[in-house]
Amino acid sequence: METNSISTRVLLLFIALQLGCQLISCSVTYDGKAIVINGRRRILMSGSIHYPRSTPEMWEDVIMKAKEGGLDVIETYVFWNVHEPSPGNYNFEGRYNLVRFLKTVQKAGLYAHLRIGPYVCAEWNFGGFPVWLKYVPGISFRTDNEPFKRAMKGFTEKIVNMMKYEKLFESQGGPIILSQIENEYGALDKKFGAAGYNYMTWAAEMAVGLRTGVPWIMCKQEDAPDPIINTCNGFYCDAFKPNKPYKPTIWTEAWTGWFTEFGGAVHKRPVQDLAFAVARFIQKGGSFVNYYMYHGGTNFGRSAGGPFITTSYDYDAPLDEYGLIRQPKYGHLTELHKAIKRCEPALVSGDPTVFSLGANQKAHVYYSKLGHCAAFLSNYDTANATRVTFNNKHHNLPPWSISILPDCNNIVFNTAKIGVQSTRMAMLPTNSQILSWQTYSEELTTSDEDSAFTTFGLLDQVNVTRDASDYLWYITSVDVGPSESFFHGGEHPKLLVQSTGHALHVFINGELSGSAFGTRENRRIKYKNKIKLRSGVNRIALLSVAMGLSNIGGHYESWETGVLGPVVLYGLDHGKRDLTHAKWSYQVGLKGEAMDAVSTTGMSSVEWEESSLITQKNQPLTWHKAYFNEPNGNEPLALDMHSMGKGQVWINGQSIGRYWTAYATGDCRRCHYNGNYRPTKCQVGCGRPTQRWYHVPRSWLKPTGNILVLFEELGGDPRRITLTKRSMTSVCADMFEYHTNITNWQTESNGKTLPIRRPKIHLQCGPGLLISSIKFASFGTPIGTCGTFQRGTCHARASYGVVSKRCIGKERCAVTISNNNFGQDPCPNTLKRLTVEAVCGPTSRG
Ligand code: GAL
Repeated sequence: METNSISTRVLLLFIALQLGCQLISCSVTYDGKAIVINGRRRILMSGSIHYPRSTPEMWEDVIMKAKEGGLDVIETYVFWNVHEPSPGNYNFEGRYNLVRFLKTVQKAGLYAHLRIGPYVCAEWNFGGFPVWLKYVPGISFRTDNEPFKRAMKGFTEKIVNMMKYEKLFESQGGPIILSQIENEYGALDKKFGAAGYNYMTWAAEMAVGLRTGVPWIMCKQEDAPDPIINTCNGFYCDAFKPNKPYKPTIWTEAWTGWFTEFGGAVHKRPVQDLAFAVARFIQKGGSFVNYYMYHGGTNFGRSAGGPFITTSYDYDAPLDEYGLIRQPKYGHLTELHKAIKRCEPALVSGDPTVFSLGANQKAHVYYSKLGHCAAFLSNYDTANATRVTFNNKHHNLPPWSISILPDCNNIVFNTAKIGVQSTRMAMLPTNSQILSWQTYSEELTTSDEDSAFTTFGLLDQVNVTRDASDYLWYITSVDVGPSESFFHGGEHPKLLVQSTGHALHVFINGELSGSAFGTRENRRIKYKNKIKLRSGVNRIALLSVAMGLSNIGGHYESWETGVLGPVVLYGLDHGKRDLTHAKWSYQVGLKGEAMDAVSTTGMSSVEWEESSLITQKNQPLTWHKAYFNEPNGNEPLALDMHSMGKGQVWINGQSIGRYWTAYATGDCRRCHYNGNYRPTKCQVGCGRPTQRWYHVPRSWLKPTGNILVLFEELGGDPRRITLTKRSMTSVCADMFEYHTNITNWQTESNGKTLPIRRPKIHLQCGPGLLISSIKFASFGTPIGTCGTFQRGTCHARASYGVVSKRCIGKERCAVTISNNNFGQDPCPNTLKRLTVEAVCGPTSRG
């Protein structure tokens, strides 16, 4: 009997392995230690890649790079507003083809985590909700409200059923091992009181009732009801514990960098700190880490939320906006994942034993019944390296770092020691010229007949536009008599306009009189300026421009936007004239939008003019059109828009996104990896345009005759727009010589890890590129970072010659770091490094 059941089990297991999950249902469960997939506890590394933020043509490549980077899982939100643009009309095509995306993940052999939301935050327009949802009678978002719950359930069910139909849940043999309902509701839940709690528990039950066969999670929801797992989001999550001992410790958003907003600097997160945070989480018993973002991508079209979130959603992620590998971030994390994976058998076996190794130093040690032992040696000291003793061996721990010992003996990885090369990328010119500029001036509405409607008072912008366009005109007129004293040498009247965002252009009698802009933190803007009035009727036209609808905050759906007033004219002879409640005409969108000037079909209905005359005028509110051929090569492309002001740009009818040459303010002076990270710590680009380059996906181009159309609000010189290619310009390596205290390790083919007595640096330019010259080489005590290396007090004279001989003209090279290799020891008794920056250039083929 016993033998029988064992052989049955073996047989079932065999069938399961042979046939995947077709005959026997697969399963994902969990316990206090980890997610359990088909009976096996797993330590899982995951990364966020949002499908609409890249093109289907890019998906396979970024997913494969994620796999090679050591990820097991790809996470994505589901973006309701792109899938249901109007009630009941669905779109799952192109970039919105969620099923194709998940099947690409499956094909790569990876798992998926589907965060359905449907609230997603994500710096995405309106937090992912369709704007029409706001106008469902009686609705109130994300609370115990029937219309909202009905709509939310409808969409969640729609997605779950689609996934089931396509057999995408792991329980059906598909890749999805986890799903998320809601997103960071915890904070609101408390604010909303009983209604919040009721909604949250309803959402949990509703989700569980959909019977996906895989666990659900709620992030940042301390009181997530069973069986839902509550998870952590943040820069660090090692202090987090789930609400029940039988739930695993999951980090759903390990922020790899941070998002950018127009007018702000670009945030970078040093990889040593990110790796430290991840190792810290794992050593404490965490078993699932998702990098938010692993590939950030692009907010194409008007998908950016905010307001003021940039079109680029690069996020300083391991894969850059264009899908290229960002080094050393990608490589260093890859090494971290390898080290963690080697600890997996011990990690999943139980809780760690923790020893103190000093005031700020600890050892977390894991043992398995089968004899595995894995240790994490941590140094929390933000400033000092420390020598510790563990397992009868001395180890040097750099400040703010963790060393990983998968066999409890040898350090194979330290979070602060980067062993991989770094790369420098630049936007280089292409062989493509943008030619035959033509323009079309957006006419200002001149009569009330052109307007959509006229009413007394100022209206909320989204109420009027329903977000069909970023643009809304508010138009009124004022009569001014000829006797006004400003016509006779007196001071000109001033116009005050208060708006709740996001940008405002004031036109008086058809002339741009000035503009004002809000920020993400302060959407209220005030325009107060002298204006030029004439005797008789004056037309005041206010163009209010939305820059992405809010995606975060309690009941943000009810926040009003646009020119809400007051609008007051000061300085007339009879005192101020309040226009707030005057008669206003409204026009939604631009004439060019109505004519569909950006599409290949609509374009011909526009009376384009040859541009030589008009472009010189630097005119505001102008449409520009030009042609270009696809550049040679296969590097990712971007438009350099720095000569332009603010607007939107399209190529072959596809929207590249909003652009704005807003200059970054902020403090870019200091950055060090050690110590707690916050987004203002390591900023770059202060004083420069926040975003200058705008990604043009290659797949949107044809070989010749591509059409570029842009709408410029302020004025600029389109003839200086260029098409650039993102290219690797140089690679750097920086490594210490062998020293008893600083050990580099190498895995032998038999799986054993041995110290490398003669370490080597490795350099490799990207595909199609060769090392064309050596910009810097020093064996000694060089200083600086990639791009700014300088010789230190000790320098071997042969450095340059040795490295050049080994590397120039090669696709890749390795140079041994030893005194012998550089002739002689340039400074005995000093710990030396070899530091190189090599320039990359095209091969003769490229
Ligand atoms: C989180 C949120 C994400 C994203 C992130 C910041 O709080 O869950 O959707 O908005 O912040 O990038």
